[in-house]
Amino acid sequence: MSGKTISLGVLLSGSGTSLQNLIDLQQAGRLPVEFSFVLSSRKDAFGLERAKKAGIPTEIVPRKGAKWEDFNRDCAAVLNRYKPDLIVLAGFMSLFIPPSDYAQRVMNVHPALIPSFCGKGFYGHHVHEAVLEYGVRYTGATVHFIDTAYDTGPIILQKPVEVMFDDTAETLADRVQACERELYPEAIRLFAQGRLEVHGRRVRILPEEETVCE
Ligand code: GAR
Repeated sequence: MSGKTISLGVLLSGSGTSLQNLIDLQQAGRLPVEFSFVLSSRKDAFGLERAKKAGIPTEIVPRKGAKWEDFNRDCAAVLNRYKPDLIVLAGFMSLFIPPSDYAQRVMNVHPALIPSFCGKGFYGHHVHEAVLEYGVRYTGATVHFIDTAYDTGPIILQKPVEVMFDDTAETLADRVQACERELYPEAIRLFAQGRLEVHGRRVRILPEEETVCE
């Protein structure tokens, strides 16, 4: 695996299935990261247990009962304390606007092909239910940098998933999540290899550097 090892902060609110995938890959030597911290916006998120089991420092910044501005400031303070190279949102159910020095260093994975079925309120099973209700033939997964709104930042990677007539939100979610399990680590590897270049709304993926043998 080429590229340096980067430090990674993870923001989540729920069960942490995306986090677990990243932990498993890292432990198998297939993801060039050191986990810096896991921040949860809920104190009862199972993702915190997964982090502790893997020996990753945990932080809790409760969203419930807090003004969004205070919540966002407290999340940013955690980033500034650990200073990871990259942050990934892994089922983080709140709007987060990172400090300006983290522009293009915070990624999100969304379980649909943005700009469809995204934005406020489109998370988890709500996305797949809306996909089935509309009747689109393809959905998929998107990894993007975050900006100042829900699901609007520059797109890094996307992959389609075919919708079958007999799908339920659960069966569709399973296939989309399988797709996410490949796409998110791939985007993190590209970042670690310094191969993502943002030009306005578009992201150029630079070719892999060739190894020169002397
Ligand atoms: C991910 O599969 C991701 O697609 C979704 O949350 C899941 C992880 O949550 N994110 C969104 O819907 C963001 N709009 P989990 O770790 O709690 O299972």
